[in-house]
Amino acid sequence: MAGRAHPRTHAKVMAVSDAAALAQAAAERVTARIAANGDRVAICLTGGSSPTELYRLLATDRYRNQIPWDRVHWFIGDERFVSADDPLNNMGMARRTFLDRCAPAANIHPIPTGAADPREAARRYESELQSFYGANELVSSRPLFDLVLMGVGPDGHTASLFPDYPAIEEIERWVVGVPQAHVEPFVPRVTLTLPALASCREMLFEVSGSEKRTILTRVLDGENLPANRARSTGETIWLVDQAALPENFRGQ
Ligand code: 6PG
Repeated sequence: MAGRAHPRTHAKVMAVSDAAALAQAAAERVTARIAANGDRVAICLTGGSSPTELYRLLATDRYRNQIPWDRVHWFIGDERFVSADDPLNNMGMARRTFLDRCAPAANIHPIPTGAADPREAARRYESELQSFYGANELVSSRPLFDLVLMGVGPDGHTASLFPDYPAIEEIERWVVGVPQAHVEPFVPRVTLTLPALASCREMLFEVSGSEKRTILTRVLDGENLPANRARSTGETIWLVDQAALPENFRGQ
């Protein structure tokens, strides 16, 4: 795997051969981040289809045995406002794929989609995050998360931060409701905001497949898109397979 700092985004692009190698590289980064912190660990998961292979790997003996499950807490960066058992529910997918088999229930922190509406769910999740963090203000020397996983959508959104939506400009709240999605599935969303997502030691994007190449080219060109504005106060890494890699990044 090769790495290259991208001049405009200040993010590091790491290229791997294919989707399987990408999931394995991501699993190595997850376990390395956990190993680097001997205390309570917080990981913010993502939805969509990109992380499913990673989640499957984390439940295999190789990775499962490396993770001190009792001290690792699992959050989610955005949620579709559907019931917890709906196939579209992001945390539901993570639970089915690995969490329910591996993590203590008390360490799984879903966005409460049983709330009256997305705004109320956001308010409740924000207070859950703040009580976990132990303060209502984020301090840069003490990141909220060890690792934040991310994906990018065809319009350049990440989490449920869509281009030109008010949520992308939010700098006070940690979590907000998004009444209408910009892309499928067209269900209301709840999303962490840029400052909450940024408060991490590492932000790791997973991008795989040729259908992602167009949007990744725009992101790496430095276009003003949510996925470009989402950056860690620590390290930001784009883990990309060859099929998704723009022409000028090929051969790395
Ligand atoms: C969601 C996500 C979203 C996702 C991207 C990429 O709830 O849909 O969290 O931000 O990460 O849309 O999705 P894919 O991995 O399915 O391409």
